[in-house]
Amino acid sequence: MTALTLSTSAAPGLRADAIVIGVAKGAKGPVVAPGAEAVDTAYDGKLAGVLETLGASGAEGELTKLPAPAGFKSALVIAVGLGTVPDDGTGYGAEALRRAAGAAARTLNGAKKAAFALPVEDAAAVGAIAEGVLLGAYSFDVYKDNGSTAKAKADKAPLAEATLLGGKPRDAAHKAALARATAVSEELNRARDLINTPPNDLTPAAFAAIAQRAAKEHGLKIQILDDKALTKDGYGGILGVGSGSAATPRLVKLSYTSPGADKHLAFVGKGITYDSGGISLKPAGHNETMKCDMSGAAAVFAAVVSAARLGLEVNVTGWLALAENMPSGSAVRPGDVLRMYSGKTVEVLNTDAEGRLVLADALWAASAENPDAIVDVATLTGAMMLALGSRTFGIMANDDAFRSAIHEAAEEVGEPAWPMPLPEHLRKGMDSPTADIANMGERMGGGLVAGLFLREFVGEGITWAHLDIAGPAFNEGGAFGYTPKGGTGSAVRTLVRLAELTAEGDLG
Ligand code: BES
Ligand code: MN
Ligand code: ZN
Repeated sequence: MTALTLSTSAAPGLRADAIVIGVAKGAKGPVVAPGAEAVDTAYDGKLAGVLETLGASGAEGELTKLPAPAGFKSALVIAVGLGTVPDDGTGYGAEALRRAAGAAARTLNGAKKAAFALPVEDAAAVGAIAEGVLLGAYSFDVYKDNGSTAKAKADKAPLAEATLLGGKPRDAAHKAALARATAVSEELNRARDLINTPPNDLTPAAFAAIAQRAAKEHGLKIQILDDKALTKDGYGGILGVGSGSAATPRLVKLSYTSPGADKHLAFVGKGITYDSGGISLKPAGHNETMKCDMSGAAAVFAAVVSAARLGLEVNVTGWLALAENMPSGSAVRPGDVLRMYSGKTVEVLNTDAEGRLVLADALWAASAENPDAIVDVATLTGAMMLALGSRTFGIMANDDAFRSAIHEAAEEVGEPAWPMPLPEHLRKGMDSPTADIANMGERMGGGLVAGLFLREFVGEGITWAHLDIAGPAFNEGGAFGYTPKGGTGSAVRTLVRLAELTAEGDLG
């Protein structure tokens, strides 16, 4: 990952491949953002005009390259669009900075060093720019370039070094913001790696082994239930989903405990390492990206490790419900009835509605510890994508205040999210003539039906929320801002923020 430093040096004397500055969209053309004064001065104060001549408008994500002025030790200036100028001419929002830094970092892949001269008003801006750089510079090329030259590989490598100008290396708040951004971005990028790893390599056992190594490194407690242990304890949902695959399922419990904590959060992640649909096989065109179906578990994993690295004063338990959903002679069939870990029976009408089955068992296991709140994260339904598109996740909950708090936390960290209801009338669509409940209901409102199913497996009186990240978990389009193609790490930053808020006593 990119090495980040803070520096109060002046831009002209810096030796770097490029200096990144901000340009915003003003009423009468592009406006040079604070931080770029030295560059503007060297352009005789005419930088805005130069940028306009080059076609720059200041629109979000726009990139304009120009030669560095005479006397600069760097050759190139990259002006990145920040979007509309804030009303007061300052106060560029964290998300605008994060996206701009990310877009610039992406074009700098292959470069050795860049200086970021974006507007830094406070520590929050330092954190946002740092996150933007670290997340934007991400690349996944483990499976590429084998046998090609070192040069070709270096061309694509993430930007090696970045200096944030205006960030004060001796300011405690600036330093803390940088450290936080580094820890969270590193873990988030690791979650992206897991999501992007092909399913022949990332089996449930392989994922569990990676969690085990991380637990050791960060002093977390870990418990891994393999198929034998799951059978012994009666985890019928996880076992049923995993029964069609040669790669056996796992339930991983990862615990971070803080000596000063008086609150306990449980995060539960859907970890289907590949979702073929099972016997209710997905048609071609719907299964090519289904390695992403463990994105919820990856987010939970990253959030627990982040909480540990940040030393938050809150206990956080992560539950990774890992299975591969495959059709075979031993696979669960439409019509089978599973006895779940909670004791409830479920008639499996569609083996492609597998996420709710593994989550149900993990939610019940999480409930047994009576945490202050449970949040599950899952690429659960195509219906949620239809409702909210590919960049926004849906939030459902059994508590309105908790749902609002999560929405606010998501907004604060720059993750688009939206509250969704759990309409009671949709419950009866899951009535089964044979079992306590069926794993499918009405087609309309499918994302909410899935949420209602999960609610049945949350322990009595426990505050719970469900994040359906089916849309934003995996970016099938082109990279934008600090979001790469492929695995995005959706929900990691929201979960970390929730843990921070809980530690600070501002939640629940
Ligand atoms: N993993 C899918 C949901 C999904 C779809 C995630 C597209 C990301 C992108 C999930 O297991 C699934 O197949 N859901 C079904 C449920 C249905 C059978 C009730 C769906 O949404 O079609
Ligand atoms: Mn499915
Ligand atoms: Zn799935």
